[in-house]
Amino acid sequence: MTQSNCRVAGQGAYLPERVLTNADISAFVDTSDEWIRARTGISERRIADDSQNTSDLGYEAAKIALADAGLDADDIDLIVVATTTPDLVFPATAALIQDRLGMRHGAAFDVQAVCSGFIYALAVADGLLKGGVFNRALVIGAETMSRILDWEDRSTCVLFGDGAGAWILEKTDDNAAGLLGYDLRCEGRFTPLLKTTGGVSSTRTSGYLRMEGPAVFKHAVTKISNSMARLLEREEIEIDEIDWFVPHQANQRILEGVADKLKISREKVVSTVARHGNTSAASVPLAFHQAVLDGRIQRGHLCLLEALGGGLTWGSALVRF
Ligand code: ACO
Repeated sequence: MTQSNCRVAGQGAYLPERVLTNADISAFVDTSDEWIRARTGISERRIADDSQNTSDLGYEAAKIALADAGLDADDIDLIVVATTTPDLVFPATAALIQDRLGMRHGAAFDVQAVCSGFIYALAVADGLLKGGVFNRALVIGAETMSRILDWEDRSTCVLFGDGAGAWILEKTDDNAAGLLGYDLRCEGRFTPLLKTTGGVSSTRTSGYLRMEGPAVFKHAVTKISNSMARLLEREEIEIDEIDWFVPHQANQRILEGVADKLKISREKVVSTVARHGNTSAASVPLAFHQAVLDGRIQRGHLCLLEALGGGLTWGSALVRF
């Protein structure tokens, strides 16, 4: 039996309008533009308006992805949203977006794998489509990380931003196209390195994000590089065959460290960290969208995606766009 693949039929992204620069943050915490740019590569990030929730950002990205695919919501029968910052404890942000899209059919649920969420969500949706359960999926990474930041903690509040990205997946008989493979990992024992200080069942609050930055940094470079090497070996793809490396946008030094370790040339690295900061589950589709918009990523190009986040969770995915 021929195994069908899932192709990316369309993609889109959305950023809130409000820009928060390093100079803006320096006005209320003890930091500087120079420190933030030198240690992270970040110059500015977008922050959702008080009236905007995660579902609003995800909805805007979904509309752009649907238009890009030449489809409307009636053509979708599965929505998977990767988010750490849902509007409500329940229902899922995916259900809220489904309603905004006017859908009265299909299934919708959220995936929680923090910054690795979009890679996990792609794998889940891909598996459900390949298994014949659904025909076409809308996969969204959407976050309002600004809502779980402690704006007095300079070691974390300078790093994150808000945004959303969305892909439409559909089956194709071309088994050399679309999503080609994944490597997904989690080691919950590293929870103390990256977590929130609260939760619904523990403190009845969402708490604030806390991170042991230098320790996470070391895990990030090693674990992401190993994940990508495993995936390339399993799929029998040489690193030179990769057209674009689209990493999670946590820190310019991490993404360059990973690229150097795998001998990926710097020209092939898609980086939006300077303008977006770390948008958690939204960062990979946001970066991907930017590179499609400016003409770098084109149809047929082979792209290597990766992310690492709270859990620790991490993973990588290969896609021929
Ligand atoms: N401004 C000025 N100084 C600062 C700031 C700041 N914003 N933040 C920390 N410092 C100080 C520290 O207090 C420390 O001072 P000290 O030497 O007097 O103690 C000094 O700068 C160095 O701090 P480090 O934390 O060692 O700085 P480092 O170079 O490691 O950079 C960073 C910190 C940017 C957080 C880095 O460690 C990092 O990127 N870590 C990984 C992030 C990541 O990948 N996260 C995963 C995804 S996030 C998620 O899943 C939610």
